[in-house]
Amino acid sequence: MVIFYFKIMDAFQKAAKLIAESRHIVAFTGAGISAESGIPTFRDPGGIWDQFDPDEVGTTGGLIATLSQRPEVIRDFLLKTVEIFEQAKPNPGHIGLKELEDLGLLKVVITQNIDNLHQEAGSSNVIEVHGNLFRARCLSCGRKQQLNKKELLARTRKILEEDPRPAPQKLLEILPHCPYCQSYTRPDVVMFGEPVQQLPEAFQAASSCDLMLVLGTSGVVYPAAALPYQAYENKAKIIEINPTDNYYSSITDVYLSETAAKAMPKLVDLVKDLL
Ligand code: APR
Ligand code: ZN
Repeated sequence: MVIFYFKIMDAFQKAAKLIAESRHIVAFTGAGISAESGIPTFRDPGGIWDQFDPDEVGTTGGLIATLSQRPEVIRDFLLKTVEIFEQAKPNPGHIGLKELEDLGLLKVVITQNIDNLHQEAGSSNVIEVHGNLFRARCLSCGRKQQLNKKELLARTRKILEEDPRPAPQKLLEILPHCPYCQSYTRPDVVMFGEPVQQLPEAFQAASSCDLMLVLGTSGVVYPAAALPYQAYENKAKIIEINPTDNYYSSITDVYLSETAAKAMPKLVDLVKDLL
């Protein structure tokens, strides 16, 4: 038991040393960093893809088909989403990245998450390759508008609670029309089969870091999952934090088998002692 404890502490100290010696850290995050904010991950047991069929709610075609044939499925999915996001707040995992930014070590956060929690934690340079749930994109001119999270969740809950089988038209009215051309808008998130966002910026950031912190991703969804390999190709050190597995084991310098909210505060404290 004692040996096991020293092995873990060794790994944390080794990671902290690599971080303290770095000057240009980029973080790459997935659903796992928001798990301790009450947002289920996608592929863990009981996760979102256990509860809902990605073919039904993860593609635009699937969503429209399900909405017209079985609107109660979409209503249930959206109501669960509202419940989750009404209470979701940044956790010590998000805040730890913000602290590394404040120490001048971390420059960019590349996230696959659409939950806006990195920005709410105060991270100033966030690349969202799968978009953001609290932003609307015009279906005609493509222009975007940031939405008020609280208002959007309250309006969505009201519309869904009023109608057990909401018509597609009704759901289209949840989001405000485009302020530029008055057309309908949609959530600015990337559905399966759609092009990801800010990919050149994400690869540029991965190519210019001297250390990449990989937090809470299973590394199975491309092209985003290629980013740690891009960083490794450019001689960056790789630290992976994930309680279930070392998904990037072939390129990882240090693997911390821990949750993000537990690992980050511990790491930041050790780094501060070394600076
Ligand atoms: N801290 C850190 N990691 C965690 C935690 C935690 N508290 N809890 C779970 N994890 C790990 C899981 O074990 C899993 O390995 O985080 C990983 C989350 O993996 P996925 O659920 O596959 O999520 P992600 O990798 O972000 O998915 C990528 O897939 O469904 C699409 O567009 C969606 O952006 C998403 C993409
Ligand atoms: Zn428009």
